[in-house]
Amino acid sequence: MKKRKVAILGATGLVGQRFVKLLEGHPWFEVSALTGSARSVGQSYYDCCKWHLPGRIPKWAGTMSVQPSQSSLDAEIIFSALPSDIASTLELELAADGYHVFSNASSNRMAPDVPLLIPEVNSDHAELVRLQRNKRGWNGTIVTNCNCTATGVTLSLKPLYDDYGLKRVFLTSMQALSGAGHPGVSSLDAIDNIVPFIDGEEQKMQSEPLKMLGRFDGTQIVQADFGISAHCNRVPVSDGHMVCVTVELDRSASVEQIYTSFSSFCPDEIVSQLPSSPREFIRVFAEEDRPQPKLDRQTGDGMTTMVGRVLADSMLHVRYVVLSHNTIKGAAGGSLQNAELLLKKGLI
Ligand SMILES: NC(=O)c1ccc[n+]([C@@H]2O[C@H](COP(=O)([O-])OP(=O)(O)OC[C@H]3O[C@@H](n4cnc5c(N)ncnc54)[C@H](OP(=O)(O)O)[C@@H]3O)[C@@H](O)[C@H]2O)c1
Repeated sequence: MKKRKVAILGATGLVGQRFVKLLEGHPWFEVSALTGSARSVGQSYYDCCKWHLPGRIPKWAGTMSVQPSQSSLDAEIIFSALPSDIASTLELELAADGYHVFSNASSNRMAPDVPLLIPEVNSDHAELVRLQRNKRGWNGTIVTNCNCTATGVTLSLKPLYDDYGLKRVFLTSMQALSGAGHPGVSSLDAIDNIVPFIDGEEQKMQSEPLKMLGRFDGTQIVQADFGISAHCNRVPVSDGHMVCVTVELDRSASVEQIYTSFSSFCPDEIVSQLPSSPREFIRVFAEEDRPQPKLDRQTGDGMTTMVGRVLADSMLHVRYVVLSHNTIKGAAGGSLQNAELLLKKGLI
């Protein structure tokens, strides 16, 4: 397969850096452009990027000159790691100019004609891009991935929703500092502390899973019909969002059945064939004190969703914790998987 040219928008940020790292040696994509803000434009990536990942900046990226985030990029596919306020109009302009945009920003996620994708959960929603192109009169594409905390939660709810139905879901998140980008939360606010507020996060947690678990009827997404109540907290962990989940099912099930639903979860065959998909989609821990961000977030190179403490709940049916790597599965890795899915389906 001829490699497709891809650009990374916001390449100097935390998510942008993950893209750089994950795209090194990618079998289907080659990076042809890196962009940043006015602060970085015209400089080499070595000079303007404060690198936060283990190891060095790959040489091919370090020597590239950072370009403005605009519609003259030598690329077919665009991975956007821009802040939402910039992304909201720019990503639409790029799609209108024929680029295939895969976004991490929240601004276009809930638009009815924009697929909000986790391939393991709703690969069929990718077909929505055909309607998007007709409706908007463009040849480009805009596809988004979801909020990085919603990623692990939605993926873990998928087998329960399919097997037993869902009535109510209560969530309490413990979200890593890298979720706020760089410089993010100041050290004085973060160390020895928990911040019980993340702007807009609880609303996203309460709405995005319903779209992703919804049914595509050929013309629109009919959203899933169950309640979600979310508390979101920022905790002093570098990477990996952990969420405590308590669930009321439609049809009751034993803990053993639920454990089996998680451990036997397998998405559509096409998803298993994507280069960025992990071998193990959900890992269920039997140990009573796992998963933990420090020990487990790199499972499946950061692409596996980890579930543990699966227990009967004294008031509802079941509770568990779920952990997902926020800048890999919840951002850059998830976006790569989305683009791979559309290519594999012949949609771009
Ligand atoms: N961090 C996560 O875990 C995570 C997970 C899922 C989704 N997201 C979303 O992904 C996006 C990026 O997040 P991040 O954590 O990587 O943020 P970040 O570390 O703050 O990086 C922001 C990037 O955007 C660029 N940028 C800022 N203002 C710009 C402007 N006016 N024009 C063009 N480029 C501009 C920055 O370039 P310069 O360095 O050149 O200024 C930098 O490359 C956000 O929408 C975020 O909500 C983040």
